[in-house]
Amino acid sequence: MLSPVLDMAASHAVAYMRGVGERSVFPKANRIERLRQAMDADLPDSPTDSRDILGFLDEYVAPATVASTGGRYFGFVTGGAMPVTIASHWLATAWDQNCFSHASSPAMAIMEESALRWLLQLLELPENCEGTLVTGGTMANLTCLAAARNAVLGEYEWDVERNGLSGAPAIRVVVGEQAHASIYKTLGLLGLGRDRVVSVPADSQGRMRADLVEQAEGPTIVCLQAGNVNSGAFDPADRIIPKTRRPGVWIHVDGAFGLWARAAGSLRHLARGMELADSWATDAHKWLNVPYDCGIALTRDPAALRASMSANGDYLMSSGTRDAIHVSPENSRRARALDVWVALKSLGRQGVAELVERNCSQARLMRKCLEQAGMEVLNHVVLNQVIVSCADAGITSSAIRMIQDGGVCWCGSTMWNSRPALRISFSSWVTTEDDVRRSAEAVIQAFRKSGWES
Ligand SMILES: Cc1ncc(COP(=O)(O)O)c(C=O)c1O
Repeated sequence: MLSPVLDMAASHAVAYMRGVGERSVFPKANRIERLRQAMDADLPDSPTDSRDILGFLDEYVAPATVASTGGRYFGFVTGGAMPVTIASHWLATAWDQNCFSHASSPAMAIMEESALRWLLQLLELPENCEGTLVTGGTMANLTCLAAARNAVLGEYEWDVERNGLSGAPAIRVVVGEQAHASIYKTLGLLGLGRDRVVSVPADSQGRMRADLVEQAEGPTIVCLQAGNVNSGAFDPADRIIPKTRRPGVWIHVDGAFGLWARAAGSLRHLARGMELADSWATDAHKWLNVPYDCGIALTRDPAALRASMSANGDYLMSSGTRDAIHVSPENSRRARALDVWVALKSLGRQGVAELVERNCSQARLMRKCLEQAGMEVLNHVVLNQVIVSCADAGITSSAIRMIQDGGVCWCGSTMWNSRPALRISFSSWVTTEDDVRRSAEAVIQAFRKSGWES
């Protein structure tokens, strides 16, 4: 019974991938309702045949999925999944390794070391950095900021892992006014307080204003951003880092998608100076186009990372070399390294650079199409993000709904300078120039039908 089920799953998956580019990008309401009704059943008493289960998934669940692996999904910052990484994900699942240490999976421990080494080379970060693979950018930020908390309090003779935060010197956390929501979530989880931050005003593109960053005494964590989630803009690290650098200060870069600019020659200047930070968080499930979920945390201070993450138990059998359990927030974990290594092997330096540059030129093409039709693009399109709206908030909101329901493409909504706006994000290997033109037309038509006149 083993092989027919897996063959059946593979054939359903391949058929899905072949058709995904032609489907309504967001599932039609009747598909979602059909699934909801089909799921309205109690837990069965007796077993169900595996083939019937797969048939059910194919008939009811697949049609209700969002076609985010197709070429016209521009929501959030999502990324696609390259076939070779879907294949590696399948293999990783078949191997089902528990990747917390050499003892639990020597093969995956080796893969992870190799994937991390290649990432440092690609992103041009110091080779002696340590890192780990986590679920996403949020956990990568958490991992890095836990190391930061250890290091800055360590400078003041405080061992936060042993003693907690009660009675510790207060940590000053400096963020840009437009820091990503995950930074605040992480600060809350780490006991540093979502509301205790020093928030530095941003400029018109959402970049932290370097001239308004103040120096201060005491343990300090500075959170910079590579890639504003709306505009794609970068905080000016080359001005902020030299200004804030001193013992007791940790500088972190949240580069969930923007850090990949460092892998592309024509875009690297955007992240200038970020190599001088202490830690970096990014996502492989975004621009590296591996399947969900995969985030990356990197730091130049392995000791701080180990101090904040290590887990001890006699049965855990430390190998004496790098065991992921001592540098990761998780213990048991899946083989994320396999997908990262496979993506990097498949693309090489040139392939990653081309992918990132292609998506950014698609963003510029989108801007051009919209502006030629008389629309107002609100941001400087420096990376992969385009934000657009018209003067009338009601028309913009109605157009956004029409685009999302229309099925040609899918883009999210946001607020930009207190105006509702459509945000269009490019990070998929599948997207073509034709996808961009078709989608631009759908956007323009939706605004027109909503009452906008150029
Ligand atoms: C700048 C930034 N930081 C962090 C995140 C969170 O990443 P994840 O959703 O993978 O946890 C995102 C997600 O879009 C992001 O754009």
